[in-house]
Amino acid sequence: MILKTLDDLLGEGVSGRRVLVRADLNVPFDKNQPGVITDDGRARAVLPTLIALRDAGARVIVVSHLGRPKGAPDPKFTLAPVATRLGELLGAPVAFAADTVGDDAAAKVGALEDGQVLLLENLRFNEGETAKDEAARAAFAAQLASFADYYVDDAFGAVHRKHASVYDVPAILPHYAGGLVLREVEVLKKVTESPEQPYVVVLGGSKVSDKLAVIKALLPKVDKLLVGGGMCFTFLKAQGHEVGKSLLEDEMVQTCADLLAEADGRIVLPVDVVAATEFSADADHVTVPASEIPADRLGLDIGPESVALFAGAIGPAKTVFWNGPMGVFELAPFAAGTRGVAEAITKIDGFSVVGGGDSAAAVRTLGLDESAFGHISTGGGASLEYLEGKTLPGIEALEK
Ligand code: 3PG
Ligand code: MG
Repeated sequence: MILKTLDDLLGEGVSGRRVLVRADLNVPFDKNQPGVITDDGRARAVLPTLIALRDAGARVIVVSHLGRPKGAPDPKFTLAPVATRLGELLGAPVAFAADTVGDDAAAKVGALEDGQVLLLENLRFNEGETAKDEAARAAFAAQLASFADYYVDDAFGAVHRKHASVYDVPAILPHYAGGLVLREVEVLKKVTESPEQPYVVVLGGSKVSDKLAVIKALLPKVDKLLVGGGMCFTFLKAQGHEVGKSLLEDEMVQTCADLLAEADGRIVLPVDVVAATEFSADADHVTVPASEIPADRLGLDIGPESVALFAGAIGPAKTVFWNGPMGVFELAPFAAGTRGVAEAITKIDGFSVVGGGDSAAAVRTLGLDESAFGHISTGGGASLEYLEGKTLPGIEALEK
């Protein structure tokens, strides 16, 4: 990778200079209490970059998206609580601008002193950030770029997005890769190009359609592909089982059947399922064989026999990549599958990578030892697209 890094920038000297840092502060909020952060892992992951710049006397302007607001301000998705949390983590208040490129942002950028950190409001409150139209994106990027002398990208979780703050700003400002982006890419490169065998991939999450490309890309490389989470039901259906009210992508059943045939036994599915009467922590639930899910129930987790089966496949692995929870781990009765599989991954005598927002949050929410994993990625979609072999617009822009 030929690109300039944060260390290069620090070497050039940044005292008194304004540095725009693209971070991924897309942290999860409590479903019932917007603004209450349930996992601040992404904020912690960018701290080394912010601290290095601050300590070097830079005026640090941080930008991020949060959630998927539709190009206009939406109080549900304000970054204000994240500014507070960043301040706590940095041990010094982080200023917050109530807009991204408006009057408040301009005033607060102007007032920044050496070594101070400012967070601007959610990038996606502006249509230009995600616009397909190149000119609209470029116009927004020019406004952002006008605030700073340099650009640092440390938003690994967003490098797969061709958005103004990721792709267009680095075309305007001298640009550098932050330490988080560098570390993530280094790990994923290793897993993609030279995974030590046996290589086991564990996939969960709700939709087969989201994971189809990565399944196709990985199948020729892996010894086993273990499938749990909501997406397993479409595979179970493809095996001829009824799945009751479980999540099902009808239009993907044939695709799953084809994948199972191609995999020739290397795709491993759950053998038992925790089936509930409804999607709720208080719902009545029973463990049933995966081939006998009652018509009036939905599977919300994999069962203990599946955990044992998956753990047996994971045990001898030298490389494990895991993306996506095995069940609805946020609800206590449906957390055991994710916990069991995660624990099996921590025990391997090899290198494990946890890919992504939700699985990384699961590791921390379930109180598992983060240091027992080889690498916990901050990017779900980004790490999957890397494994698929796609060009990531954010990385491409840094390399130019
Ligand atoms: C993520 O949560 O995967 C990243 O923050 C990117 O968010 P997005 O999928 O809404 O672009
Ligand atoms: Mg996400």
